[in-house]
Amino acid sequence: RKKIILDCDPGHDDAVALLLAHGNPDIELLAVTTVVGNQTLEKVTRNALSVATIAGITGVPFAAGCDRPLVRTIETAPSIHGDSGMDGPEQPESIIELDPRHAVDLIIETVMAHEPGTVTLVPTAGLTNIAMAARKEPRIVERVKEVVLMGGGYHVGNWSAVAEFNIIIDPEAAHIVFNEKWPVVMVGLDLTHQALARDEVVNRIAKIGTKPARFVMELMDFFQKTYKDAQGFDFPPVHDPCAVAYVIDPTVMTTRKVPVDIELQGKLTLGMTVADFRAPAPEDCHTSVAVDLDHKKFWDLVTDAIVRIGEP
Ligand code: BDR
Ligand code: CA
Repeated sequence: RKKIILDCDPGHDDAVALLLAHGNPDIELLAVTTVVGNQTLEKVTRNALSVATIAGITGVPFAAGCDRPLVRTIETAPSIHGDSGMDGPEQPESIIELDPRHAVDLIIETVMAHEPGTVTLVPTAGLTNIAMAARKEPRIVERVKEVVLMGGGYHVGNWSAVAEFNIIIDPEAAHIVFNEKWPVVMVGLDLTHQALARDEVVNRIAKIGTKPARFVMELMDFFQKTYKDAQGFDFPPVHDPCAVAYVIDPTVMTTRKVPVDIELQGKLTLGMTVADFRAPAPEDCHTSVAVDLDHKKFWDLVTDAIVRIGEP
C-alpha cells in the first residue's frame, strides 16, 4: 500500500480527499495534519476531526500545525467554504482526539520512522507546515518519496488572475517546497478544473445512500452554490482529491516534467507558479505538472471509496 501524510485545511474538497484516502484500499493513511487556509487553524482542525468521525477514521493521528503563514497575514476563503470552512452539512461532535504533537513534528517523525522513499506527502492547503518541516529536519527532503500537492496552475489562477489560493496564501512556503530537490507533482487548477462534480456524479453518490455519502452530497451542494456565485462555475471543481487520486493511480491523469518556480516579487503576479515550457525539461528537473484528467476514472475512485467506507 502507498503510505501518505495528508496535510489539509478542510474545506469541502479536502473532506473528499480525506474520504478518498481513507476508503481506498491502496492507500495507507499514516497521519493527517492541518494548517490555516480555508479558515482559521482552529476551524479547519475541528472540520478534519468531524470528517474523521463521519468516516470512522480511527487509529490515524490527527495533528494541528501552523496557525499563520510564514510571512504574510492570514487570508481565508469564506466566499467558497463559508464561515465554518466546511459549511453545508451538519457537523457531529468529534469523538476523535487530536494528537498533542505539532503537525510539523508529526510530519517529521512519521517520515523519519519509515523506510526512505516510502512516504508521499500530499498537501492540499497552503504549504506552511511542509516548508517548516523541510527547514526543521532537512533530512526529510531526501527521505520523502514525492510531494504530490494540490496548488498552483500553469495557465490559470483563482485567487488572482495568475495565482491559486494554496500558493498565494503562503508564497514563501511554496517557494521553499518547490525549490527543495524532492520530486514535486503539482496538481494545479489546469487539472482540477476538469474534476467537476457534475449532476451525474452527485446522483451516483446519492444512490450509495449511506451517511458519509449524504455528507458528501451536502458538501457538494454548498460548494456548487458558492462556486457559482463567487467564480461563475456551473459545477464545482473538486480539487483536493485529485492529488490523492494521482497517488492511488498515476494513470488517472497525464503529467509533464517542467521546471516550476514561485513568484515572490510581482505586484500582479505574486504567488504565480511559473512553469518554463520553452525547451525539454533538463535532466535534473524535479517538478512536474498535471495536465489532463480521466474524469470517469477519477470519480470511479471517489465513489468506490465512499462505497467501501459504508456506514461506520
Ligand atoms: C484550493 O483552495 C482551497 O480553497 C481548496 O480546498 C483547494 O485546496 C483550490 O484553489
Ligand atoms: Ca484545501
